[in-house]
Amino acid sequence: MRILAGTCALAAFALSGLSAVADPADDTLVVNGEIQMITHTDKAPDYIDGLSEQYSGWHFREADTRVMQADDFDNPGMLGVEAATEVWNAVDGSEGKACASCHEAPESMAGVRTQMPSFNEAKGEMYTMEMYINECRAERMGAEAWDWDSSDMVNMTALISSVSRGMPMNVAVDGPAQSYWEKGKEMYYTRYGQLELACSNCHEDNYGNFIRADHLSQGQINGFPVYRLKDAKLSSIHNRFKGCIRDTRGETFKPGSPELIALELYVASRGNGLSVEGPSVRN
Ligand code: HEC
Ligand code: HEC
Repeated sequence: MRILAGTCALAAFALSGLSAVADPADDTLVVNGEIQMITHTDKAPDYIDGLSEQYSGWHFREADTRVMQADDFDNPGMLGVEAATEVWNAVDGSEGKACASCHEAPESMAGVRTQMPSFNEAKGEMYTMEMYINECRAERMGAEAWDWDSSDMVNMTALISSVSRGMPMNVAVDGPAQSYWEKGKEMYYTRYGQLELACSNCHEDNYGNFIRADHLSQGQINGFPVYRLKDAKLSSIHNRFKGCIRDTRGETFKPGSPELIALELYVASRGNGLSVEGPSVRN
């Protein structure tokens, strides 16, 4: 319990639910018998001080949940991918265009997820996948932007992620990305809420431990969007961040806010080298 020194009494109370360490499941993930997933590495990138090795959240889930992700017929997140494939081909907006008019098949997006979020040179800003999608809808299709957490948006991010499955995450952290990365890193180590807990207190200091019934993972985002069995739907990265901050009884940030965009870049970089898994299955 040494790690608790210096945190307030409430935090100690919250983490008193911590119990025995359970190793991440010793298991390998091959999807549809063909996509080999890198779910564990022996070494995190050099610029991540707090992790010696990387684990996908997949290793911390129960066997039945892990198995669901190994076959597209069992992965409920793939229903979102199917729905988005129809939307991909459907004309929408004043310009009479579909995604397919300019991007051909969804497979043309292979590799895109590995680099998200990325600096949008034309806009001079860090852009998440949601922002690129809405830029195309609003500025190129004359269609309405989608809400960040709408099913259309989350399904489309699942489709675009799915064609990069197996490829290692590889977000840029230098050049114009660096200031966002620094800001995200600072947030990662900032204590939030009445419980005064930082992301790092749970996902760096305590991964492998149980917090109440939950086996704590490294809080990686290579699996997003994630199909959460608890909610029976796909969930975006920012929605997950929001929930984790809320759980510290903290005032949380809005999906799409500059804070969560910077945090997304930093957290993505902690997973550089792990395979894209989205849509993954978690509880
Ligand atoms: C009128 C043509 C057009 C349409 C229609 C269109 N896009 Fe795009 N899209 C572009 C262009 C041009 C870019 C920028 C490419 C670049 O700069 O590399 C882009 C970029 C993107 C990117 C970022 C890719 C990357 O490599 O960073 C995503 C994701 C994307 N579009 C998704 C969509 C989706 C989803 C739809 C349908 C809802 C759509 N686009 C509709 C033209 C279009
Ligand atoms: C009080 C402990 C706690 C704190 C603090 C916390 N989380 Fe979590 N987080 C959890 C638990 C519990 C889960 C569900 C089990 C798991 O995957 O670790 C979770 C899950 C996640 C996941 C999903 C991982 C996956 O593979 O599906 C992400 C991403 C995440 N957290 C990011 C964050 C970020 C970023 C912060 C800081 C803003 C944060 N968390 C703060 C407890 C915490």
